Amino acid sequence: MPEFVIETRGLRKSFRTRHGRQTAVDGLDLAVPAGGVHGFLGPNGSGKTTTIRMVLGLARADAGTVRLFGAEVPKSLPSVLGRVGAVVEQPRLFPGITGRRNLQVLARSINQDDRRVDAALAAVGLTDRAGDRYKAYSLGMKQRLAIAATLLKQPDLLVLDEPTNGLDPAGIREIRDLIRALAADGTTVLISSHILAEVQQVCDSVSIIGRGRLLAGGSVAEVLRSTTRPSEVRVRVPDPAAAAELLQGNGLTSRPDGELLLVGGAAEPAQITRLLAERGIYLSELTPVSADLESVFLQITEGEGL
Ligand SMILES: Nc1ncnc2c1ncn2[C@@H]1O[C@H](COP(=O)(O)OP(=O)(O)O)[C@@H](O)[C@H]1O
Ligand SMILES: [Mg+2]
Repeated sequence: MPEFVIETRGLRKSFRTRHGRQTAVDGLDLAVPAGGVHGFLGPNGSGKTTTIRMVLGLARADAGTVRLFGAEVPKSLPSVLGRVGAVVEQPRLFPGITGRRNLQVLARSINQDDRRVDAALAAVGLTDRAGDRYKAYSLGMKQRLAIAATLLKQPDLLVLDEPTNGLDPAGIREIRDLIRALAADGTTVLISSHILAEVQQVCDSVSIIGRGRLLAGGSVAEVLRSTTRPSEVRVRVPDPAAAAELLQGNGLTSRPDGELLLVGGAAEPAQITRLLAERGIYLSELTPVSADLESVFLQITEGEGL
């Protein structure tokens, strides 16, 4: 198995619009490691769907290369397509028949039997509702049935384009749990989203794009480390102004955070405690501040939306 299940180099695509040509994907290098969940993140209009369509051979790139499981797309796509499941557009399922019947129709078309249908329904937690008509399903159930449809062929890679879009918090949690379970079973999952908070918890690694370009990538920890200021601690003291002056005089940084202070540059939190105590300033609270991906996302995609 290659190290990366998806690899793009210099991927480029523009569209002709009424306002001239618009670049959707602008020289994108994307590397999705085998195993785990990869978050493909960026604001609306940043080129996520266009990229995914090119990766899956649904759209032709203007320039650049795509490799799926090491195979060149689109030239060698047929050799690996059987290993890839994807939910990109609203899947075309029949509204008037049951969820199970919909899957049976799809299973027949790829020579799979009803056992795989039952397994797929169980995997997405729809066994109990499989006998309901598709049109009676909630949005979250429809999304899960679409994922079940891709599981019929037991893919090694699952590509989900904004699967949490439009779902309520319970629906989002269901999709997250499902993705986690699939990844635990060895499926590599690529999940795109414009809302970091919805997927942050399930991602092992991320690529963050803006205007069709890669802004940051790597493990969640790496991205946090590379794009945020060094870690700060939040400190509560009786006299923040005096404490700030003292800390700054000793080479640390400090800035107000409400009635607290955010202090940076300390080798370890104990250094802050000691400096303050030496001058008779006793802190009543000291909390490390860990940046979350949300603030990183906002920081690096600033001005990158449409
Ligand atoms: N078929 C199309 N024709 C014209 N413009 C398109 C087409 N598809 C996407 N675009 C434009 O390309 C840019 C990227 O779109 P898209 O890939 O859908 O972004 P995302 O999925 O990140 O929201 C947007 O400006 C969008 O309007
Ligand atoms: Mg999209």
